[in-house]
Amino acid sequence: METGHISVLATEVMTYLAPKPGGVYVDATFGAGGHSRAILDALGKNGKLLALDRDPDAIVRGEKLLKLYPGQLTIKHTSFQNLGDALIEWGEEQIDGILFDLGISSYQIDQPERGFSFRFDGPLDMRMDHSLSSNSKTAADLVNSMSERELSDIFFKYGEESRGRKIARAIVCDREKKPFTTTAQLARLAQRVIPNHKKGIHPATKIFQGLRIAVNGELDQLQKGIDIAINSLNHNGRLAVISFHSLEDRIVKQTFKKVTTHPPLTGPAALLPQPKLPPLPFSLVCKKPIIPNRDEIQQNPRSRSAKLRVLTRVPSS
Ligand SMILES: C[S@@+](CC[C@H](N)C(=O)[O-])C[C@H]1O[C@@H](n2cnc3c(N)ncnc32)[C@H](O)[C@@H]1O
Repeated sequence: METGHISVLATEVMTYLAPKPGGVYVDATFGAGGHSRAILDALGKNGKLLALDRDPDAIVRGEKLLKLYPGQLTIKHTSFQNLGDALIEWGEEQIDGILFDLGISSYQIDQPERGFSFRFDGPLDMRMDHSLSSNSKTAADLVNSMSERELSDIFFKYGEESRGRKIARAIVCDREKKPFTTTAQLARLAQRVIPNHKKGIHPATKIFQGLRIAVNGELDQLQKGIDIAINSLNHNGRLAVISFHSLEDRIVKQTFKKVTTHPPLTGPAALLPQPKLPPLPFSLVCKKPIIPNRDEIQQNPRSRSAKLRVLTRVPSS
């Protein structure tokens, strides 16, 4: 079932992250290691890379790469929300660049037993960290225990599904007869409750997105991760983030805006002539997000919603 993972915006990441030979870098989302490998090649023998992933399977898959880059690559099983501790443990608190390639890899989505996809039948799991120590709730735990209101909030807020309420009501009704345990059960419910869905888009798409975000606390972790990343950048250091849906992109865009623009003046100060403002410590590397070109989307349809945003800490004056 596994099809491998194709790194998204691979050329553009290298252009805009611009890893410098001998530099100190982090790949916050190791996945299948494609971006890590390209960064390591650019760094040369004197550079080093710390790669993180919260999925223990990704760490196991990374063992081959560890052998190819001895002494240069460190791979750690942790969430990027713990980036601060990971850097201290690694012995490098300031870094020259960091990449976040959000979401899940093809390895995760194409394995029915991980429960991420409505295209296959499998346990309704969706935990990125499914190790025993993670103790986190599965999607089935949420679907079978949350109130109608809580479920509808998840579908609405995280899935941007306008029919979230209707779906939540049907779930609460169905689970009385039989608890939800599989992805196919939930996909069938979506097909029943939303018969007139958009052509070409499975009616369970947004429900699965919402549940996955809730199960993994993805938006909170993203905010924590990029806040720490920004504060860990050396002068000229770069932070690159690839997002895959509007909720992720909004967090990245707003956080970048907050640190690259002066807050607007309010009250009487807004009416006075504008004072000369001090330069800000960060700036955008590209004003607009970078998106995949037509060829990439054709070769890798999963790249179609990707957006790359890049920020840099400006050199001290
Ligand atoms: C799109 S894949 C990355 C693919 C990778 N860039 C490549 O070229 O192979 C996203 C990876 O990030 C991991 N991930 C998602 N959220 C994470 C988090 N909060 N902390 C650490 N890893 C995370 C997922 O487990 C997944 O392996």
